[in-house]
Amino acid sequence: EKDGHDWFMRKEIFEQPRAVADSLLGRRSRTGRLQLDEMRLSDDELRDIDKIIIIAAGTSFYAGMVAKYAIEHWCRVPVEVELSSEFRYRDPILDYSTLVVAISQSGETADTLQAIRHARTQRSKVLAICNTNGSTIPRESDAVIYTHAGPEIGVASTKGFLTQLVACYLLALYVAQVKGTRYGDEIAEVMHQLEAMPDHVQTVLDGADAVYQLARAHTGTRSVLFLGRHAGYPVALEGALKLKEIAYLHAEGFAAGELKHGPIALVEPGLPVLCVVPPRGRDQLREKMLSGIQEVRARGAQTICLVEEGDDSIGPYADVVIRLPSVPVLLQPLVSVVPLQLFACELATALGHDVDQPRNLAKSVTVE
Ligand code: M6R
Repeated sequence: EKDGHDWFMRKEIFEQPRAVADSLLGRRSRTGRLQLDEMRLSDDELRDIDKIIIIAAGTSFYAGMVAKYAIEHWCRVPVEVELSSEFRYRDPILDYSTLVVAISQSGETADTLQAIRHARTQRSKVLAICNTNGSTIPRESDAVIYTHAGPEIGVASTKGFLTQLVACYLLALYVAQVKGTRYGDEIAEVMHQLEAMPDHVQTVLDGADAVYQLARAHTGTRSVLFLGRHAGYPVALEGALKLKEIAYLHAEGFAAGELKHGPIALVEPGLPVLCVVPPRGRDQLREKMLSGIQEVRARGAQTICLVEEGDDSIGPYADVVIRLPSVPVLLQPLVSVVPLQLFACELATALGHDVDQPRNLAKSVTVE
């Protein structure tokens, strides 16, 4: 049942090209327009939306952070991303023109369920992004986009995350299509780029051995930092969460620009810092990231850089380079998170941990 893999988590990481492809299936009509079958909100209802609030927990929250970048860019609608456990308690401003998007792999997370119940009492429409057919959150929502990851058994979410990202991109493009924003022309192009992603994810998986070797060289490590910018920032947070969850290591993700506002004080000689470098084409972002990498390296950190293939500017500042396929910055999380999953899985395994059932954790968190 693990298809020859030692752990469900590893099996699920390797299923990601298929999971991404399945989550994209049937989303385009014969005329090339994007269609979302389970989108029970009418075009008029969507056109009336002037604010989106995304609520989620854990890894799903990080997918929501990526969604914010995509929706704001393509739809020009303001997006807030909020932890579902915090949402109700701050008396959020909600009405019929606010769309609440709940992201939950299991569809049973109590914090997220209570948050959508609250949103509905305030007359907001709720759309669920969920991997589990018929679970409570989609049942209690006005609309749903199902992801097609298949059952996720490992407690650490992997293919769940990638397919949530796909659903978020589809939602963003769909809203852009309905609202007719000036980025509407990009829809067909982005759909093509998304359809190429299963192959790109496979390319990253084909390079797993190098990441495993790196992970095994870090079994004595006490602490790891992750840096990213833009859509790479939530990836840094997700990389750190994976490592905490299954390897029980101290790990933190930061927006690279925030380093100088405090976290750089943590850097000491030998500290591994994994850096998600934005692709070329976003040169300002990339250059700022490179200067952050230089800063930590100057203080003795070991810099492990995830960089687009063909980008050699990192040369002098990287102790280790992990190559990523060339994709646009908004879609980069689909490829950049994969080496971080592999790294955490292999490091935890090398430390002798049960990566499918990490201590203190349950697959769905049904208490608030
Ligand atoms: O089922 P959900 O997506 O609602 O779960 C949310 C979190 O509990 C979940 O993502 C958790 O953080 C994972 N164990 C992360 O790997």
